[in-house]
Amino acid sequence: MAYLFSDSLIKTQVTISTIPGDKSISHRAIILGALAENNSEFSNFLFAEDCLNTVQIFKKLGVSIDCNVKNKRVYIKGKGLNGLKVSKQHLDVGNSGTGIRLITGVLAAQAFNSCITGDETILVRPMARIIDPLMSMGAQVSAQSYPNMQDKYPPLTIQGVDQLTGINYKMPIASAQVKSAILLAGLYANGSTTIIEPRPSRNHTEVMLKAYGAPITTADTSTTIKKTIALRNPFSTSLVIPSDFSSAAFFIVLGLLQKEAKLTLTNIGMNPTRNTLLKVLKLMGATIDIVNETSTLEPYADIVMHPSKLHNITIDESYIPFIIDEIPILAVAGMFAAGTMVVTGAKELRFKESDRIEKIVHLVTQFGGTITQKADGFILEGGTKKASPHILSGKDHRISMSAVIASLVSETPVFIDDVDCIKTSFPNFFDLIKLVAAP
Ligand code: S3P
Repeated sequence: MAYLFSDSLIKTQVTISTIPGDKSISHRAIILGALAENNSEFSNFLFAEDCLNTVQIFKKLGVSIDCNVKNKRVYIKGKGLNGLKVSKQHLDVGNSGTGIRLITGVLAAQAFNSCITGDETILVRPMARIIDPLMSMGAQVSAQSYPNMQDKYPPLTIQGVDQLTGINYKMPIASAQVKSAILLAGLYANGSTTIIEPRPSRNHTEVMLKAYGAPITTADTSTTIKKTIALRNPFSTSLVIPSDFSSAAFFIVLGLLQKEAKLTLTNIGMNPTRNTLLKVLKLMGATIDIVNETSTLEPYADIVMHPSKLHNITIDESYIPFIIDEIPILAVAGMFAAGTMVVTGAKELRFKESDRIEKIVHLVTQFGGTITQKADGFILEGGTKKASPHILSGKDHRISMSAVIASLVSETPVFIDDVDCIKTSFPNFFDLIKLVAAP
């Protein structure tokens, strides 16, 4: 499917209250809900392809999950830590790196065999980062390897084991997916499992495990979990999943770059390991207000954007794990800002749904911008010239959404291909674009 920009931005105050639920938390809700001894109910669940694949996988593993799409709720009948059943079919995560990595952590500790795979983008995503630590805990995971490709790749075949053993593991990269896979396996491992990250990464797994009663302790870059007897949902009512900060990021940047309107986004997740883009944008001169701050399991608030004149800055590796999914849209902000944006220490972008350094460089170039690719980032000069009339966004949801925002801000009619992939994370994206873009 292609998207044609043809509208101009609305000139009045707009409030968006339907940014969908957080993707990372929705995956974890299904996983921990399935492993709990009692039942769980979550509202504002993300009914998008990625999370629905996680739902399907746990159904295949014998868990009863009811989805009420209309009121955005899921009801999970917990099976307990040892209640999952062997699946006769392969488990398919679709496009989700989070799905395959976290669920492999759980499967690695089961007594039965399983096979987990995904779409063509998943088949080239590196898995040694989870396989190596899981195997050192005693798991049996085999993967694919290919000539001229250095890593291990899905499909992953996981053999049932009797028992895992805790490890002390120093992670070579900061990655919440890897940390979470090891923590989930660590629930089952004899003794304790300690993970040390080079830098802190998003902490949704730790927050939810703690709430569900797992013996887990965290200190800066170190996390320890002990073998766990049982997980229990402590909430007697439905638990609210905040709206996804990473999805909100597209409208945050749009709100800053438009000329007149004040844009408000409600109930956006404000976990400090996720909302660092706000700090970066403020350093670039953005005027943003945070109001109505509240919290259930995770904090959330309303974010108000005022049109702002932005200037570019250098963003080094100390920021990267906390803005990893927002860098494509940050590059769009950089295109319309004064001065030079330098992004370093972001090599992990090469291992996302696509090689996002390459995709960002391609996108900026297609909009007439000037950008130099580096091994671990890019150097971007603010300012655009004439955009090419047909933008290739390359089947990556965050690149496609960035392209739409760039087309709206540059007020250039362009065709953007491959916008179908947006539904993996943000099914109502175009409904919300229509809200802010008036014909
Ligand atoms: C995620 C962690 C991040 C992020 C991904 C979701 C998660 O990946 O890019 O979209 O839910 O844990 P890494 O932790 O591997 O960088």
